[in-house]
Amino acid sequence: MSEDSNHLSNIDNGNPRHIAIIMDGNGRWAQKRLMPRVIGHREGVKTVRKIVEFCGEQKIEVLSLFAFSSENWRRPQTEVNMLMDLFMLTLKNEVDKLDKNNIRLRVIGDRSRFSQKLQDKIVQAEEQTKKNTGLTLNIAANYGGRWDITQACKKISVMLQQGEITESDISEDLINQHLSTFELPEPDLFIRTGGEQRVSNFLLWQLAYTEFYFSSILWPDFDQAVLADAIDSFKGRQRRFGHTSEQVIKRT
Ligand code: IPE
Ligand code: IPE
Ligand code: MG
Repeated sequence: MSEDSNHLSNIDNGNPRHIAIIMDGNGRWAQKRLMPRVIGHREGVKTVRKIVEFCGEQKIEVLSLFAFSSENWRRPQTEVNMLMDLFMLTLKNEVDKLDKNNIRLRVIGDRSRFSQKLQDKIVQAEEQTKKNTGLTLNIAANYGGRWDITQACKKISVMLQQGEITESDISEDLINQHLSTFELPEPDLFIRTGGEQRVSNFLLWQLAYTEFYFSSILWPDFDQAVLADAIDSFKGRQRRFGHTSEQVIKRT
């Protein structure tokens, strides 16, 4: 199948296969209530539970959630520590449930900066759920799009040095295969809550043809109904991947 027909065959009015979300607004949610930011993050975990469940029911294949960016280390140390503790606690509390619900958990990002305990827990959670065939829940933690592209370049340069490939083997496809999302379809729908309209170093390469949806709702207030609106908005769009509108209509 040519690259062209491949793209067009992906154009349909069905649900997105892969939804990627920047869960933003936890801090403001708490501050509006005169509460410490940590309360907003805890409340945000409840939204994650609801949204994961909904995506499972809707037969979405992949849900990517931005939990902690490579730039979030710049926050006050107390907030960073608290986010690390919350990540650990959430894994401990939720992994069995995810497993029972046939959800496969994946974590992308540079883990080396996490405590050994957290790294071990991530490995254990991925191992426990790896055979599951329902929703893939892809958590981006200490993730940056620039980090992802850089680490792919490093792996490819080692292959080059060892003579496994030559320069002419370097292609978009090869780069894709070395990104942390190598086994996942590209995101179809990107959602950012909290009102900001920026990518903040999320899946830079992977978002090349993703449909964007911005919501001013703060993440702890986000729910199934808003996600359903976002999916409806997605379904009403025509994805052209460079073609003309007429070409798309003719071929679908
Ligand atoms: C997103 O909420 C969660 C993380 C970055 C961990 P924020 O903490 O960024 O919330 P706001 O943007 O300050 O409201
Ligand atoms: C992006 O949100 C990262 C996560 C949601 C984990 P931020 O709140 O950190 O983004 P900026 O700093 O406002 O761009
Ligand atoms: Mg924010």
